[in-house]
Amino acid sequence: MSIDLEILKALHGASGRSVSGADLSQTLGVTRAAIWARVQELRSLGYDIDASPHQGYKIISCPDLLHADDLLARLGPVSVIGRDIRVFKETTSTNDVVEKLARDGVKEGVVVFAESQTRGRGRLGRKWVSPSGKGLWFSILLRPALIPGEATRLTILAAVALRRAISGYTGIEPEIKWPNDILIKGRKTAGILTEMHAEPDRIKHLVLGIGVDVNVEPEQLPPELGPIATSLRAETGRMINRAELACRILRELDADYEHLNSGQFARMVDEWEEHCSTIGNNVSIRIGNRTLRGRAEALSEDGALLVRSEHGRLEAVIGGDVSLDKPT
Ligand code: BTN
Repeated sequence: MSIDLEILKALHGASGRSVSGADLSQTLGVTRAAIWARVQELRSLGYDIDASPHQGYKIISCPDLLHADDLLARLGPVSVIGRDIRVFKETTSTNDVVEKLARDGVKEGVVVFAESQTRGRGRLGRKWVSPSGKGLWFSILLRPALIPGEATRLTILAAVALRRAISGYTGIEPEIKWPNDILIKGRKTAGILTEMHAEPDRIKHLVLGIGVDVNVEPEQLPPELGPIATSLRAETGRMINRAELACRILRELDADYEHLNSGQFARMVDEWEEHCSTIGNNVSIRIGNRTLRGRAEALSEDGALLVRSEHGRLEAVIGGDVSLDKPT
């Protein structure tokens, strides 16, 4: 048991009211002095916790940092995704950390956040800029009972859950660009990188990496991204509470992972199609050194994009770089 986790759970759960030190010490089975010492430690991290001899402890404000116990305390019960949360101040890429945990045999559902990444990566070998303390850069370990050809389902699942969480938390209605981009008014605000380790007939593990530009300032991004990227802060005009948003995203992902495992992937396909800016448009898709041009018609049951090519053939595309073409 982590005392910090239990203290933070009690303080968040009291929603602005005080929690008595005596009650905390009794429930947690530790001395009042031990509680006081942990509160002092939390204060040193920037938690503003009011302590009154008669009323007890009350949380006034929390710092803008990701703290594993705090995330667990806010998250509440989950089935798989988020039952273990780890936070790094800096790492190369959270996908690397989770890949290592996977190879060490850690259970699925662990989530690794980093305040900054020195070698954050995106799809197709691109660099992912991850300014410290400004976004949500995290990866999740999953061990789904799927074959490698079905891995796109996880990207679809992540895209709908992420879109729903952002919409629910900010009131903005982002759109999805196949397969993994979350856009607001045509500019990218979040991306998903799915990496897997598989045998020919089964996925051994899969790492779902998610990057959300939350409070990133335009000048923190390379100039070439200016016209194509945005952040939730820029779009809403207010600072977003990263810990709250992170928990909302994890709850949505956890719920959808349960849906996937109980044979309900079809509902995610419907939601994806409803919010997708790719479907119904003429597209060019770069797949290796070939470019496929056609009209994106729908999403297949496995999460592939069904494209009616210029030659009238329906092709199922599972990867590549999509750009929207002008209507003909
Ligand atoms: C993309 O849009 O190309 C995918 C971007 C994925 C970025 C996230 S940030 C956390 C995780 N760690 C990484 O190195 N990449 C993913």
